[in-house]
Amino acid sequence: MFETSTEKFSLWKEKQILKGGDKKSLNLLIDSLGGVSNKELNLLKIKSEKKLKLKLNLDLLESFWDKHLSTSIPIQYLSGISYWRNLILEVSNNVLIPRPETELVIDIVLQIYRNKKEKITFVDLGTGSGAISIALALANPNWNGIATDIDKNAVKIASRNFANNANQSNLKFYNGNWWDPLKLFKGEIDLAVANPPYIPQDTYQKLPKEVKDFEPKNALFGGEDGMDHINEIVQYAPSYLKDKGWLLIENHFDQGNRVKQLFLEHRFTSVKVLNDFSGIGRFTIGRYK
Ligand SMILES: C[S@@+](CC[C@H](N)C(=O)[O-])C[C@H]1O[C@@H](n2cnc3c(N)ncnc32)[C@H](O)[C@@H]1O
Repeated sequence: MFETSTEKFSLWKEKQILKGGDKKSLNLLIDSLGGVSNKELNLLKIKSEKKLKLKLNLDLLESFWDKHLSTSIPIQYLSGISYWRNLILEVSNNVLIPRPETELVIDIVLQIYRNKKEKITFVDLGTGSGAISIALALANPNWNGIATDIDKNAVKIASRNFANNANQSNLKFYNGNWWDPLKLFKGEIDLAVANPPYIPQDTYQKLPKEVKDFEPKNALFGGEDGMDHINEIVQYAPSYLKDKGWLLIENHFDQGNRVKQLFLEHRFTSVKVLNDFSGIGRFTIGRYK
């Protein structure tokens, strides 16, 4: 631990923000690498504390900030961790940094399954860091979860994240293309959730450097119209879901209606497009028959 005066720290922070970048990223760096959360910083002001303890000294923190500013590498990849819901997840450039809007997936599922005693088998297709599957496994220890990803490194990271965030064994991880690793579970899935790569070609080209140069292309790019992976997931879902089983897919801001049509073409019922925090039709849900 490195001790510094709060006055020196405030001056240091002002200097960093004058160099560029945004306050939110600087606060994230101070939290994830320095070990001091925003809440603690605010409390320090109220309590007029004179000293502050950091995990790294200010020079080292500054060198990380400079690296972020000069290369645009996301803070989460510099620190190796990402905060998502109440989880602290290991991340590397093999996995997408889990996004705040995806947190709503968990709330939607908890709305569907209000009876805590109901036992279900769920799958998270394309689990990445494991964010969705781990949060669901933790939300109800009666549920059995399966998480898949095409990227072997993502599967390793997600398994480690589960081990580090939970003392449970109700989640298993498999490597492979969408439903392929689930051949033994045909007709047994109550709920399938996916946040697949859905960015269309033209949008992908224009993504900010911070995303395009660092986050894995196979976590973002969804083909010409962004629908390649969504098409595949919906098409094969009926073989894997139980009768009345749910499918929930996160989609790009303008894909809601197309995904809804796709669900209907594949005989899904109760199909709805649900909004994210910004009022964008971000999640499509439906039941198989
Ligand atoms: C948008 S990321 C979502 C990651 C994580 N579920 C989340 O919400 O943060 C999409 C994930 O799908 C995985 N993926 C891409 N193509 C796949 C495929 N054909 N089969 C299975 N997983 C795939 C990627 O490796 C990536 O981890």
